Amino acid sequence: MMNSLQLANGGALAFADWALAKQSRIQQLLDLTLPSADLAPQTLHSAMRYSALGGGKRVRALLCYAASELCHGDEAMADAAACAVELIHAYSLVHDDMPCMDDDDLRRGKPSCHKQYDDATALLVGDALQSLAFDVLSRPLNAHQATLQVNILQVLARASGSLGMAGGQAIDLAAVGKPLTQAELESMHQLKTGALIQAAVLLGAASGSALELAAVRTFATNIGLAFQVVDDILDVESDTQILGKTAGKDANSNKPTYVTILGLALAKQHAQHLHANAINALSPFGNTALRLKELADFIMQRSF
Ligand code: IPE
Ligand code: IPE
Ligand code: MG
Ligand code: MG
Ligand code: MG
Repeated sequence: MMNSLQLANGGALAFADWALAKQSRIQQLLDLTLPSADLAPQTLHSAMRYSALGGGKRVRALLCYAASELCHGDEAMADAAACAVELIHAYSLVHDDMPCMDDDDLRRGKPSCHKQYDDATALLVGDALQSLAFDVLSRPLNAHQATLQVNILQVLARASGSLGMAGGQAIDLAAVGKPLTQAELESMHQLKTGALIQAAVLLGAASGSALELAAVRTFATNIGLAFQVVDDILDVESDTQILGKTAGKDANSNKPTYVTILGLALAKQHAQHLHANAINALSPFGNTALRLKELADFIMQRSF
């Protein structure tokens, strides 16, 4: 995934270096944002930190930063947006792993939150991480832009609610053992995973000014869906050690996925097709969209 490419400003910075710098930035931000484990209620705060700070590729934060850079966005706003999106994502993983949902014991190479703590704590961790995401996004910024902040709060709320991620998760649970059509599967994946990834890109773009917002949106929709198609493929092709979560879980749980519906070869082809759509959407931006393109490539080439 890591290659050295020329930046629009003429400097050369490898994608790997850029990604590492942003990953460490978001780690620090999350660390500062999450309440200390010494603060009461200690178990809840320690479990929140366990779930949000322990690993993760931070793809959504990276997408947010890359979109912000493309749109010459405000740094503080991009930080807040990246942090909020990763908090929502962490909450979604904690709940996704609970016995009442996917019942997964392993997440990011460690026991899932409900295994390390307990079900009630995991439930509250998800609740509290979600509230913290909206808290972060609503804090006054240096250049206070209240109207813009309300807009981005709404984008994130809609992407994570019943018409977005939570709705997609409800459809996912109801679909166990059912043969979905490809259109139904696409809509489920679009909601449960695509919506938050799209929001990550749109929030980053909203921190600046996107000249071609429709193109940014098309990129985000396609790469968000591709992300979950690749997740379905990795569940079959990768192993637990590399994934940091239980491989083969979808088949064992009778989940309809792109692999069960199309087969491995066509699922891969479909992911390539979505990736190509995403890259094509970036053409109006030329080389200034390099980071988004590199992230799209990374989403396809990742092994976990
Ligand atoms: C996993 O997301 C859950 C899905 C939406 C498929 P990621 O693969 O981004 O998980 P982390 O954050 O890197 O652990
Ligand atoms: C997760 O989809 C989507 C959300 C958490 C919103 P999966 O159930 O496929 O994610 P993994 O494979 O457990 O990470
Ligand atoms: Mg799930
Ligand atoms: Mg799961
Ligand atoms: Mg999965």
